[in-house]
Amino acid sequence: MQVYMDNNATTMTDPQVVEAMLPFFSEVYGNPNSLHKFGTASHPAIAKAIDQVYKAVNAADEDDIIFTSCATESNNWVLQSVWVDHILGGDKDHIITTEVEHPSVLSTCKFLEEQGVKVTYLPVNEQGVVEAHTVKSFITDKTALVSVMWANNETGMIFPIEEIGEICREKGVLFHSDAVQAVGKIPVDLQKVHVDFLSMSAHKFHGPKGVGALYIKNSQPLSPLLHGGEHMGGRRSGTLNVPYIVGMGKAIELATENLEETRRKIREKRDRLEDALLELIPDTFTVGDRDNRTPNTILISVRGVEGEGMLWDLNNAAIGASTGSACASEDLEANTVMLAIGADNELAHTGIRLSLSRFTTDEEVDYVIDHFKKAVERLRSISSSYAKVKPTPGGEVRECELH
Ligand SMILES: Cc1ncc(COP(=O)(O)O)c(C=O)c1O
Repeated sequence: MQVYMDNNATTMTDPQVVEAMLPFFSEVYGNPNSLHKFGTASHPAIAKAIDQVYKAVNAADEDDIIFTSCATESNNWVLQSVWVDHILGGDKDHIITTEVEHPSVLSTCKFLEEQGVKVTYLPVNEQGVVEAHTVKSFITDKTALVSVMWANNETGMIFPIEEIGEICREKGVLFHSDAVQAVGKIPVDLQKVHVDFLSMSAHKFHGPKGVGALYIKNSQPLSPLLHGGEHMGGRRSGTLNVPYIVGMGKAIELATENLEETRRKIREKRDRLEDALLELIPDTFTVGDRDNRTPNTILISVRGVEGEGMLWDLNNAAIGASTGSACASEDLEANTVMLAIGADNELAHTGIRLSLSRFTTDEEVDYVIDHFKKAVERLRSISSSYAKVKPTPGGEVRECELH
């Protein structure tokens, strides 16, 4: 058996999505910008994909959805173009974000700092969530943009986007949310929640890699990041990747059509897995309140066991997991989100992220429980650091106690 439990890094493309994409490689292959029938043949499929995406997030207008190559591009676009439009081209000088954003936001903010922009990186509480009042307290009349993720990729914790959106609206500050880990997993309703810009990525909800979208409320002005041939009304140039756009549309439709039911089923499996690991293995901790987490995610810390050692053992048992963000999986740094939550350095080296999907089966959950336990037992038996830790008497379960 082999078990993929790294669905926050990427997901398997749903076979129904692949099937929907296939005709657009070698049958309907014209450039949608060409005026001949080969080009225009793809127009209905593009219109359908836009319709599928805008309905899935309940946007007010189809024109508010622009396809990109990935969420990294969507995030860069918002941050860099707000800098161009409102800081270089206006009277603002400040951006607010959080310490636990994805590197595509954090690295862009670092780049903007080098250009002279003031950036505030907000801390998170012990649940790993930034609080709305903290956001409010840092907004000044020089703030151009607040960028706060909808759900965290490592912990699955859901941020108070509705409240933050209201604060930004009241204060007249632009609000961007990286919703990559939220769309397709929890409801995202853009008519209930005020967001100016929202980033999405198809490969996180069983669509293809290499396609994403940016929602721009009321199609408000935002300078292009990619200049060129006036595609997507001049907002985002580059020949449209029709098969991938079709795939994103199909994937978002499938992911959101029975969202409540799908969420419930994934959560049942996630909770069973989490309960079993906490019960069977002493000195384990999970991060964050389950009710305020995406239904598929567990970040578990195993005292005395390096995350990388666990990944190795799990990999030997053909289980794919992660120590945090996929981009950081090859280095041996402590989990930055766990550090931000207040974990000590030793504990922050022990985090393992298990992320399920709608394709995860009960048999797979059982297999992971069994092999996770074996891996911890083996690694603890050879760990000098675990021998120094006084095990919790009776294997008492301690949850969310990172402070
Ligand atoms: C929260 C978050 N934002 C952005 C990204 C980047 O998405 P993409 O791979 O589409 O560039 C990821 C991917 O790991 C993510 O988890």
